[in-house]
Amino acid sequence: MTALRSAIAAAPAPHSAMQQAVRLLKDAVPHYTWVGIYVLEGNELVLGPYLGKPSPHTRIPLGNGICGAAATEKATIVVDDVNADPRYLACSIETRSEIVVPIMRGDQVLGEIDIDSDQPAAFGASDRALLEPVAAMLADRLAED
Ligand code: SME
Repeated sequence: MTALRSAIAAAPAPHSAMQQAVRLLKDAVPHYTWVGIYVLEGNELVLGPYLGKPSPHTRIPLGNGICGAAATEKATIVVDDVNADPRYLACSIETRSEIVVPIMRGDQVLGEIDIDSDQPAAFGASDRALLEPVAAMLADRLAED
């Protein structure tokens, strides 16, 4: 967490802060198979930095997917079995579970951290405890734009 905090704060621009966060999160946790950040532009979530296989979902309208749901509900969503969730937009057939953490500034959604795992039910309280503070740090940087 200290490394993440320093890297996000020291990055020269919001985009590089997002890149650093994605890199450090991907390297830190073995079950994070795909790590990306979407930025809200109008009514669409636009894919920014990510690590993992290319996703077909580079622009997600707010009404769509687990990503859209998290932004609309302004709350973290954990899905233990993506194949059992009708909202799920598939990125890779190997993905089994997902967590989406909104990046919020006050009541405003700026974007979100999206993480997929090839393991079922990979995400729990420790992931929230890691990712929600990271989202808050990123909110401070994204608010600069
Ligand atoms: N699974 C997401 C789409 C993004 S990909 O996982 C990278 C969703 O259902 O919104």
